[in-house]
Amino acid sequence: MKTYSKALLLLTSVFTMLLLSVPGHAAVGQRIGDFSLLDHQGKHHQLSWYSDQKAVVIFIQGNGCPIVRNGAPTLRAIRDDYNAANVAFFMLNPQPQDNRHSIAQEATEYGYDMPILVDETQLVAESLGVDRTAEVYIIDPATRTILYQGPVDDRLGYETQKPEAKHHYLRDALDAVLAGKPVAKDIPEAPGCLVNFPARDKAAGQTISYTQDVVPILQQHCVSCHHDGGIGPWSMSSHAMVQGWSKMMKEVLVTRRMPPGLIDPHVGVPISNEADITPQEVQTLVHWIDAGAPMEEGAVDPLPTLEFENPKFTMGEPDIVLQVPPQEIPATGLIDYRYIPVSLNLEEDVWMRGMEFIPGDRQVLHHVIAYLNSPADKAVRGRRDTEGDRDSIGGFAPGRQPDMAPADSGRLLRKGSNLLLQMHYTTSGKETVDATEIGIYLHDDTPRYVMSGAVAGERRFMIPPHAKEHKLEGELLLERDAYLFSLMPHMHYRGRYMSYTAHYPDGTSQVLLSVPKYEFNWQFRYDLEEPLLLPAGTRLVAYGAMDNSAQNPGNPDPTVPVRFGLQTKHEMFFGFITLRYVGDTPESILGAEAATEEVAGL
Ligand code: HEC
Repeated sequence: MKTYSKALLLLTSVFTMLLLSVPGHAAVGQRIGDFSLLDHQGKHHQLSWYSDQKAVVIFIQGNGCPIVRNGAPTLRAIRDDYNAANVAFFMLNPQPQDNRHSIAQEATEYGYDMPILVDETQLVAESLGVDRTAEVYIIDPATRTILYQGPVDDRLGYETQKPEAKHHYLRDALDAVLAGKPVAKDIPEAPGCLVNFPARDKAAGQTISYTQDVVPILQQHCVSCHHDGGIGPWSMSSHAMVQGWSKMMKEVLVTRRMPPGLIDPHVGVPISNEADITPQEVQTLVHWIDAGAPMEEGAVDPLPTLEFENPKFTMGEPDIVLQVPPQEIPATGLIDYRYIPVSLNLEEDVWMRGMEFIPGDRQVLHHVIAYLNSPADKAVRGRRDTEGDRDSIGGFAPGRQPDMAPADSGRLLRKGSNLLLQMHYTTSGKETVDATEIGIYLHDDTPRYVMSGAVAGERRFMIPPHAKEHKLEGELLLERDAYLFSLMPHMHYRGRYMSYTAHYPDGTSQVLLSVPKYEFNWQFRYDLEEPLLLPAGTRLVAYGAMDNSAQNPGNPDPTVPVRFGLQTKHEMFFGFITLRYVGDTPESILGAEAATEEVAGL
């Protein structure tokens, strides 16, 4: 055994020596595309978000590589010296054999204290021309040009270490960049461990099949919205359409914009409506796009033959259809949220199973949140006339499915109740009138269980001007056992990320959901695959952050402080929660008429 591994070691080092002579890519001077990656702690980073920095340094990390491990302390020292000069430092792990968990372990063991971007698709490493770990890149974040590629210094070599470096390549390059001078060119190749790119090399050897490999991925992750009559702005109706849009597809894939609503797949409870495109699928699409997005000779294009039903109400004919008063929308400008009361016209109390919104004009209707105004609530909660104190009982946003309770559960709508709709419109370049409809589905018989809405939120905050990551927290303490059904983060334009953690009464805790890159454009509700029983005493905490900087493309004005408020120029920090308290039955609710409980928690 011993001799065997020794021989193997010898063989590998001979191999490494041979491969050393393979020249690296000359990437300096090239521009790379913007990209988004999660780091080893699940935090989202997008290159363009660092455009306020003078330079971005990316050190290629790989677990187990001695040169990486030995070089890291030097990198850390350089980071400490240059941080104040607005240089952002990252490690990036492109190794297919490493994963979030093993990278986090290596980081703990070797004291890596900078974000390690986990390049699961290897696409960022490919665009940088990476072939070895321990190599370092300097990128100008404003133009995304590679300014330097090479070693940190000349202290480390294969099986050799000098006590001191003679050449401090990275420091010299950073000094040049900060002084606005050209970076030295005669840089030797960096020693490090070679990175394997199996997907790239496979794609180079054989063409990816449009009909066999690409179309199934599009069908699974894109076409549901991108078809004629769907909500996507263009239709994946033929090979020619997809090919024409393919460069844009690559951009939205590597910046994690599409498919929308991506969550951190490495944490949380299983979510039934997760946009679960895999790194392998993204690789296939991008490598196919890089090859020119071809269709194989003589093939029949499957896309034009796909059929879609676009029923008006996807859950069948509703029991009640309500018309929202038509809203006139101007051609341009910012429109404040509109709060529109809609009477339910109920002659008796009813049990609602769900509701679905049919937008009149999808081009302009951005989202709707429906709040319930019930006469009983009014009596109990005299002062309650602001959003967030009420139950949100449904809503609309692109991509959001209708709000339907399980077949045995519902919500009581009392006679005399009204809906208050928060409607957000965006302008589309032409004047229009939006006449949205609401379909309400009722239970014929009294359901067994009663659903509730709640919120873990915070309304006392002030986000300073230019703050890039203003952290906020909201908490809901469960006073009774409850089943958790779904989670829906709600913030406005400055919302950056939100996650939910359950802190159990026994002292343990569990991350339920992490939305690392919150997108105001998509108000997704994330449904749990299985309802989760949370014991009384559980604290549900929403952790999030606001981005009031100019790097946030959605920010209307980074120069002003922002407080809580209903309008888009103000902010909200609400982690909406759908749950069912154990023991809440129609009898218990109606029996306890007088003692209406406060569920909102705020
Ligand atoms: C839930 C619906 C939905 C899904 C699923 C979806 N898209 Fe989209 N897509 C949209 C909408 C709506 C827009 C326009 C709004 C936007 O850009 O956010 C859009 C925009 C785009 C654009 C144009 C970008 C731009 O600047 O407007 C591209 C390209 C795109 N999608 C590609 C894809 C790809 C590729 C997939 C699958 C991996 C996908 N989409 C999945 C709804 C969807």
